[in-house]
Amino acid sequence: MHYIESGAGTPLVLLHAFPVDARMWNPLRVRLEDQARVITPDQRGLGESSLDGSTARGAQEESAAPLTVDRPSVEVAAADVLELLDKLELPRVVLGGCSMGGYVATALLRAAPHRVAGLLLVDTKARVDTDEQRTNRLNAATRAERDGISGWLADNMLPNLLGATTREHRPEVAEELTSLIEAQPADGVAWAQRAMAERPDSFDVLRSFDGPAMVVVGKEDTITPPTAAREMVDALPRGELVELAGSGHLPPVEAPDAMAEVVRPWLASIDV
Ligand code: MLT
Repeated sequence: MHYIESGAGTPLVLLHAFPVDARMWNPLRVRLEDQARVITPDQRGLGESSLDGSTARGAQEESAAPLTVDRPSVEVAAADVLELLDKLELPRVVLGGCSMGGYVATALLRAAPHRVAGLLLVDTKARVDTDEQRTNRLNAATRAERDGISGWLADNMLPNLLGATTREHRPEVAEELTSLIEAQPADGVAWAQRAMAERPDSFDVLRSFDGPAMVVVGKEDTITPPTAAREMVDALPRGELVELAGSGHLPPVEAPDAMAEVVRPWLASIDV
Protein backbone atom coordinates (compact mmCIF):
# COMPACT_ATOMS: atom_id res chain seq x y z
CA MET A 1 0.00 0.00 0.00
CA HIS A 2 1.38 3.39 -0.98
CA TYR A 3 1.30 6.18 1.62
CA ILE A 4 2.66 9.66 2.28
CA GLU A 5 4.20 10.34 5.67
CA SER A 6 5.56 13.51 7.26
CA GLY A 7 5.95 15.18 10.64
CA ALA A 8 6.66 13.90 14.14
CA GLY A 9 4.53 13.43 17.24
CA THR A 10 1.13 11.80 17.74
CA PRO A 11 0.63 9.11 15.05
CA LEU A 12 -2.30 10.31 12.94
CA VAL A 13 -3.58 8.16 10.08
CA LEU A 14 -5.92 9.93 7.68
CA LEU A 15 -7.98 8.03 5.10
CA HIS A 16 -9.04 9.86 1.96
CA ALA A 17 -12.38 10.45 0.26
CA PHE A 18 -13.65 9.18 -3.10
CA PRO A 19 -12.63 9.60 -5.92
CA VAL A 20 -9.27 11.07 -4.91
CA ASP A 21 -6.17 9.88 -3.06
CA ALA A 22 -3.88 10.68 -0.12
CA ARG A 23 -2.89 14.02 -1.63
CA MET A 24 -6.24 15.52 -0.59
CA TRP A 25 -4.77 15.69 2.94
CA ASN A 26 -1.71 17.78 1.96
CA PRO A 27 -3.20 21.20 2.88
CA LEU A 28 -4.07 19.89 6.36
CA ARG A 29 -0.88 17.84 6.72
CA VAL A 30 1.36 20.90 6.52
CA ARG A 31 -0.69 22.53 9.29
CA LEU A 32 -0.35 19.53 11.63
CA GLU A 33 3.06 18.06 11.00
CA ASP A 34 4.84 19.99 13.79
CA GLN A 35 2.50 18.18 16.18
CA ALA A 36 1.71 14.85 14.53
CA ARG A 37 3.28 12.09 12.48
CA VAL A 38 0.79 12.32 9.63
CA ILE A 39 0.36 9.09 7.63
CA THR A 40 -1.97 9.15 4.64
CA PRO A 41 -2.41 5.91 2.67
CA ASP A 42 -3.78 5.62 -0.86
CA GLN A 43 -6.69 3.21 -0.68
CA ARG A 44 -6.24 0.09 -2.79
CA GLY A 45 -6.67 0.79 -6.49
CA LEU A 46 -6.45 4.57 -6.03
CA GLY A 47 -3.49 6.94 -6.16
CA GLU A 48 -0.36 4.80 -6.32
CA SER A 49 -1.73 1.74 -4.51
CA SER A 50 -2.31 -1.32 -6.64
CA LEU A 51 -5.66 -3.04 -7.00
CA ASP A 52 -4.38 -6.33 -5.61
CA GLY A 53 -3.21 -4.66 -2.42
CA SER A 54 0.33 -6.03 -2.67
CA THR A 55 2.50 -3.49 -4.39
CA ALA A 56 2.76 0.03 -5.70
CA ARG A 57 0.79 0.43 -8.93
CA GLY A 58 3.86 0.59 -11.18
CA ALA A 59 4.99 -2.82 -9.99
CA GLN A 60 1.51 -4.25 -10.57
CA GLU A 61 1.58 -3.01 -14.17
CA GLU A 62 5.02 -4.47 -14.83
CA SER A 63 4.27 -7.86 -13.30
CA ALA A 64 3.52 -10.78 -15.64
CA ALA A 65 1.52 -12.55 -12.91
CA PRO A 66 -2.28 -12.47 -13.21
CA LEU A 67 -3.87 -9.93 -10.90
CA THR A 68 -5.84 -11.36 -7.99
CA VAL A 69 -8.35 -8.82 -6.78
CA ASP A 70 -10.26 -9.18 -3.53
CA ARG A 71 -14.00 -8.74 -3.58
CA PRO A 72 -14.62 -4.99 -3.06
CA SER A 73 -15.43 -4.15 0.55
CA VAL A 74 -14.58 -1.55 3.16
CA GLU A 75 -13.39 -4.43 5.36
CA VAL A 76 -10.68 -5.30 2.81
CA ALA A 77 -9.68 -1.62 2.61
CA ALA A 78 -9.50 -1.51 6.43
CA ALA A 79 -7.38 -4.69 6.52
CA ASP A 80 -4.90 -2.97 4.18
CA VAL A 81 -4.60 -0.09 6.66
CA LEU A 82 -4.10 -2.50 9.57
CA GLU A 83 -1.35 -4.21 7.60
CA LEU A 84 0.31 -0.81 7.10
CA LEU A 85 0.11 -0.08 10.85
CA ASP A 86 1.81 -3.43 11.51
CA LYS A 87 4.51 -2.64 8.99
CA LEU A 88 5.10 0.77 10.61
CA GLU A 89 5.06 -0.90 14.07
CA LEU A 90 2.28 1.37 15.30
CA PRO A 91 0.16 -0.45 17.90
CA ARG A 92 -2.22 2.50 18.36
CA VAL A 93 -2.99 5.62 16.36
CA VAL A 94 -5.44 8.46 16.07
CA LEU A 95 -7.52 7.45 13.06
CA GLY A 96 -9.32 9.86 10.77
CA GLY A 97 -11.33 9.49 7.60
CA CYS A 98 -13.11 11.82 5.22
CA SER A 99 -16.29 10.47 3.65
CA MET A 100 -15.27 7.12 2.09
CA GLY A 101 -12.27 7.27 4.41
CA GLY A 102 -14.74 7.47 7.29
CA TYR A 103 -16.47 4.29 6.08
CA VAL A 104 -13.10 2.53 6.07
CA ALA A 105 -12.14 4.02 9.45
CA THR A 106 -15.30 2.62 11.07
CA ALA A 107 -14.63 -0.77 9.42
CA LEU A 108 -11.14 -0.69 10.99
CA LEU A 109 -12.64 0.30 14.32
CA ARG A 110 -15.00 -2.68 14.13
CA ALA A 111 -12.14 -5.06 13.30
CA ALA A 112 -9.52 -3.74 15.75
CA PRO A 113 -10.86 -1.23 18.30
CA HIS A 114 -7.71 -1.56 20.43
CA ARG A 115 -5.67 0.07 17.63
CA VAL A 116 -7.69 3.33 17.73
CA ALA A 117 -6.80 5.92 20.41
CA GLY A 118 -9.02 8.63 18.94
CA LEU A 119 -11.41 8.94 16.01
CA LEU A 120 -11.74 11.88 13.61
CA LEU A 121 -14.71 11.61 11.27
CA VAL A 122 -14.93 14.23 8.54
CA ASP A 123 -17.98 14.68 6.31
CA THR A 124 -19.02 11.06 6.45
CA LYS A 125 -22.01 9.07 7.66
CA ALA A 126 -22.91 5.90 9.53
CA ARG A 127 -26.03 4.99 7.53
CA VAL A 128 -26.09 2.53 4.65
CA ASP A 129 -27.01 3.63 1.14
CA THR A 130 -30.55 3.71 -0.15
CA ASP A 131 -31.34 1.24 -2.95
CA GLU A 132 -31.17 4.11 -5.43
CA GLN A 133 -27.72 5.22 -4.21
CA ARG A 134 -26.46 1.63 -4.43
CA THR A 135 -27.74 1.26 -7.99
CA ASN A 136 -26.09 4.55 -8.96
CA ARG A 137 -22.78 3.33 -7.54
CA LEU A 138 -22.92 0.04 -9.43
CA ASN A 139 -23.80 1.85 -12.66
CA ALA A 140 -20.90 4.28 -12.13
CA ALA A 141 -18.54 1.33 -11.52
CA THR A 142 -19.64 -0.32 -14.77
CA ARG A 143 -19.25 2.93 -16.67
CA ALA A 144 -15.75 3.54 -15.25
CA GLU A 145 -14.63 0.08 -16.39
CA ARG A 146 -16.27 0.45 -19.81
CA ASP A 147 -15.43 4.08 -20.69
CA GLY A 148 -12.69 5.12 -18.28
CA ILE A 149 -13.33 8.12 -16.05
CA SER A 150 -12.07 11.00 -18.14
CA GLY A 151 -14.40 13.98 -18.14
CA TRP A 152 -17.63 12.61 -16.77
CA LEU A 153 -16.60 11.58 -13.25
CA ALA A 154 -15.15 14.96 -12.25
CA ASP A 155 -18.01 16.79 -13.99
CA ASN A 156 -20.62 14.74 -12.13
CA MET A 157 -18.98 14.95 -8.74
CA LEU A 158 -17.42 18.39 -8.45
CA PRO A 159 -20.62 20.37 -7.84
CA ASN A 160 -21.36 18.10 -4.86
CA LEU A 161 -17.85 17.71 -3.50
CA LEU A 162 -17.15 21.42 -3.13
CA GLY A 163 -19.35 23.86 -1.25
CA ALA A 164 -20.96 26.88 -2.91
CA THR A 165 -18.48 29.26 -1.26
CA THR A 166 -15.45 27.41 -2.62
CA ARG A 167 -16.98 27.06 -6.10
CA GLU A 168 -17.80 30.74 -6.22
CA HIS A 169 -14.65 32.25 -4.76
CA ARG A 170 -11.83 29.75 -5.27
CA PRO A 171 -11.86 28.33 -8.80
CA GLU A 172 -8.27 27.14 -8.35
CA VAL A 173 -9.47 24.61 -5.73
CA ALA A 174 -11.96 23.20 -8.26
CA GLU A 175 -9.19 22.95 -10.85
CA GLU A 176 -6.84 21.12 -8.48
CA LEU A 177 -9.58 18.74 -7.44
CA THR A 178 -10.46 18.01 -11.06
CA SER A 179 -6.82 17.07 -11.75
CA LEU A 180 -6.77 14.83 -8.70
CA ILE A 181 -9.95 13.03 -9.80
CA GLU A 182 -8.72 12.69 -13.40
CA ALA A 183 -5.51 11.07 -12.10
CA GLN A 184 -7.36 8.11 -10.56
CA PRO A 185 -7.28 4.71 -12.27
CA ALA A 186 -10.70 3.62 -13.56
CA ASP A 187 -10.43 0.09 -12.10
CA GLY A 188 -9.73 1.54 -8.64
CA VAL A 189 -12.69 3.91 -8.96
CA ALA A 190 -14.94 0.95 -9.83
CA TRP A 191 -13.59 -1.13 -6.93
CA ALA A 192 -14.19 1.70 -4.45
CA GLN A 193 -17.77 2.29 -5.64
CA ARG A 194 -18.60 -1.41 -5.25
CA ALA A 195 -16.94 -1.48 -1.82
CA MET A 196 -19.00 1.50 -0.63
CA ALA A 197 -22.21 -0.02 -2.01
CA GLU A 198 -21.67 -3.08 0.22
CA ARG A 199 -20.80 -1.27 3.45
CA PRO A 200 -22.78 -1.97 6.61
CA ASP A 201 -24.48 0.46 8.97
CA SER A 202 -21.89 1.53 11.55
CA PHE A 203 -23.90 3.10 14.39
CA ASP A 204 -23.21 0.03 16.57
CA VAL A 205 -19.43 0.53 16.19
CA LEU A 206 -19.70 4.21 17.09
CA ARG A 207 -21.82 3.43 20.17
CA SER A 208 -19.20 1.03 21.46
CA PHE A 209 -16.20 3.34 20.98
CA ASP A 210 -15.37 4.95 24.31
CA GLY A 211 -12.35 6.96 23.13
CA PRO A 212 -12.35 10.64 22.16
CA ALA A 213 -14.09 11.31 18.86
CA MET A 214 -14.39 14.48 16.83
CA VAL A 215 -16.92 14.81 14.03
CA VAL A 216 -16.22 17.62 11.57
CA VAL A 217 -18.66 18.68 8.86
CA GLY A 218 -18.76 21.48 6.33
CA LYS A 219 -21.98 23.44 6.73
CA GLU A 220 -22.40 23.47 2.93
CA ASP A 221 -21.96 19.70 2.53
CA THR A 222 -24.83 18.23 0.49
CA ILE A 223 -23.46 14.64 0.21
CA THR A 224 -23.09 13.97 3.95
CA PRO A 225 -24.80 17.01 5.49
CA PRO A 226 -24.66 18.26 9.10
CA THR A 227 -27.70 16.07 9.97
CA ALA A 228 -25.59 12.97 9.21
CA ALA A 229 -22.78 14.34 11.40
CA ARG A 230 -25.16 15.01 14.30
CA GLU A 231 -26.45 11.42 14.15
CA MET A 232 -22.90 10.13 14.53
CA VAL A 233 -22.14 12.48 17.43
CA ASP A 234 -25.30 11.28 19.18
CA ALA A 235 -24.07 7.68 18.86
CA LEU A 236 -20.51 8.37 20.05
CA PRO A 237 -20.18 8.33 23.87
CA ARG A 238 -17.38 10.94 23.72
CA GLY A 239 -18.23 12.61 20.44
CA GLU A 240 -17.95 16.32 19.80
CA LEU A 241 -19.29 18.13 16.75
CA VAL A 242 -17.61 20.87 14.75
CA GLU A 243 -19.50 22.53 11.90
CA LEU A 244 -17.30 24.58 9.57
CA ALA A 245 -18.76 27.59 7.78
CA GLY A 246 -17.79 28.19 4.16
CA SER A 247 -16.94 24.54 3.44
CA GLY A 248 -18.68 21.74 1.59
CA HIS A 249 -17.84 18.02 1.60
CA LEU A 250 -14.04 18.40 1.72
CA PRO A 251 -12.91 20.69 4.60
CA PRO A 252 -9.28 19.45 4.46
CA VAL A 253 -9.16 20.94 0.95
CA GLU A 254 -11.63 23.81 1.32
CA ALA A 255 -10.95 25.05 4.84
CA PRO A 256 -7.60 23.64 6.05
CA ASP A 257 -6.90 26.59 8.41
CA ALA A 258 -10.24 26.28 10.20
CA MET A 259 -9.91 22.53 10.35
CA ALA A 260 -6.37 22.63 11.77
CA GLU A 261 -7.53 25.10 14.40
CA VAL A 262 -10.08 22.63 15.81
CA VAL A 263 -8.05 19.46 15.31
CA ARG A 264 -4.83 20.68 16.96
CA PRO A 265 -6.12 21.09 20.55
CA TRP A 266 -8.24 17.93 20.27
CA LEU A 267 -5.20 15.95 19.11
CA ALA A 268 -3.08 17.38 21.93
CA SER A 269 -5.59 16.04 24.46
CA ILE A 270 -5.24 12.42 23.27
CA ASP A 271 -2.92 10.02 25.00
CA VAL A 272 -1.91 7.43 22.40
C1 MLT B 1 -16.62 10.50 -0.80
O1 MLT B 1 -16.45 11.71 -0.76
O2 MLT B 1 -15.81 9.71 -0.33
C2 MLT B 1 -17.87 9.99 -1.43
O3 MLT B 1 -18.64 11.05 -1.89
C3 MLT B 1 -18.61 9.16 -0.46
C4 MLT B 1 -19.83 8.52 -1.01
O4 MLT B 1 -19.96 8.41 -2.24
O5 MLT B 1 -20.66 8.07 -0.21
